[in-house]
Amino acid sequence: MAIPRFAWGIDIGNRALKAIKLVRDGDNLRMEDVEVIEHEQVLSNSGDNRESLIQTALANFAQRHLTKGGVVSVGVSGQSSFARFIKLPPVEEKKIPEIVKFEAIQQIPFPLDQVEWSYQLFRQTDSPDVEVGIFAMRKELVNQQIKYFTDMDMNVQVVQMSPLAVYNAMYYDNRLSDGTTMILDLGAENADLIIADGDSVWLRSVPIGGNNFTEALVKSFKLSFAKAEELKRNLPGDAPDLRRPGRRNSALGRLLFFSPPRQPHQADRRPGQHLSPPDAPEISSAESADRSRAPRCLPRRRPR
Ligand SMILES: Nc1ncnc2c1ncn2[C@@H]1O[C@H](COP(=O)(O)OP(=O)(O)OP(=O)(O)O)[C@@H](O)[C@H]1O
Ligand SMILES: [Mg+2]
Repeated sequence: MAIPRFAWGIDIGNRALKAIKLVRDGDNLRMEDVEVIEHEQVLSNSGDNRESLIQTALANFAQRHLTKGGVVSVGVSGQSSFARFIKLPPVEEKKIPEIVKFEAIQQIPFPLDQVEWSYQLFRQTDSPDVEVGIFAMRKELVNQQIKYFTDMDMNVQVVQMSPLAVYNAMYYDNRLSDGTTMILDLGAENADLIIADGDSVWLRSVPIGGNNFTEALVKSFKLSFAKAEELKRNLPGDAPDLRRPGRRNSALGRLLFFSPPRQPHQADRRPGQHLSPPDAPEISSAESADRSRAPRCLPRRRPR
């Protein structure tokens, strides 16, 4: 297959579709275009309308940009995917895949045949310890996600967890410091926390985002969601209540006391116990058991 000249990376978030076009430039990549298409309504509040809002955003995108001749890489939100980091017991090198598979069965809250999963080993030069990052996505959810794109005749070649895509982009761009770098992608519904340290990465997605701030304004000031969102983004200079977080009855005061609903955590589970939906995090997976796609879930490395 001829090497495609360009690729679009598309992330359908709860607030907006975001896309970036990368073009080959010799051995490098050049960002040629970006697009942000905001949904009429935040997806998480749109109920049955969700699917049609996604289709509309993609149709708008396809109207404005050509994807034919290039490939499309699709982001899957951190909240809909699964990542766990474990220190492996000392074992012979050749036993590592077997041990990792055993850990994957223990950790991934779905049977392995329902997920696309893969792993990455992390080693420090000055330590014999081997850490493993296990990544998984549920097949059913990714199939759904891919279908939005293939219905628009887009050539989807990569499906990747968004937090890893962010990490890879930062790595590629040499944006990670020699020490530890923390990256926070605060979305509308979810926040992805990524901590990069040397050649290791750790990530966690938490169900809190900009909408929580908007909702606090909705409740405190009895506003519509749209009005509250506008107020949040364009805070007027003469809004004393909003600017005094110390006041318990102010919106921001309440935000400071906001705590997200507790999510079941792996550490709370007995070994071997699987979380059952709906408590389990939604994880999704690549379209088929095609293993060639799996490594794309993993952090990409390039020599610095
Ligand atoms: N100027 C601004 N001031 C404050 N908040 C803003 C501003 N512009 C956007 N936001 C907020 O940033 C949040 C995140 O937007 P973003 O486009 O990253 O969400 P998303 O990626 O679509 O959501 P998710 O990742 O949760 O699916 C939204 O809640 C939005 O209201
Ligand atoms: Mg997002």
